[in-house]
Amino acid sequence: MRFSALALSLTALVAPALAGPVDHHSLAKRIGSDLVKRDGRMTWYNIETGNEVACSGYYVGTDYVVAMNKPQFQSWDWCGKTLSITYNGIMVNATVVDECEGCSAGALDLTESLFKKLSGDLNLGVFYTNWQLLD
Ligand SMILES: *[C@@H]1O[C@H](CO)[C@@H](O)[C@H](O)[C@H]1NC(C)=O
Repeated sequence: MRFSALALSLTALVAPALAGPVDHHSLAKRIGSDLVKRDGRMTWYNIETGNEVACSGYYVGTDYVVAMNKPQFQSWDWCGKTLSITYNGIMVNATVVDECEGCSAGALDLTESLFKKLSGDLNLGVFYTNWQLLD
């Protein structure tokens, strides 16, 4: 009787200290949230600067390519990965080829064509929508 009460209280004390599963869970959540974004901030930029993009190479405004926000770009091997971006019932696939220095986590900087295809209007400047990494 006395022993089992002690065992019970020990379990209660030790359980929270077994942080392993908790850490793995939050790590999976962190990586998962890196690959799927809700209400990401979408902007557009001129990719035809004459400079190479962060992933190397040159692109034009009609390419379906995007610049990944700096916080995420640095935590994942994004170059060449395809994202699916959905807005207003329109879905497009775009390849990550660049890094957006001034973009916050979740944000994507699109080419003119991509921005226009999704939002219908370049002058909108910014809209918020969901994107996810395709395998
Ligand atoms: C995006 O890519 C996926 C996987 O290759 C494909 O199934 C889907 O049809 C593509 N969507 C568009 C809009 O091209």
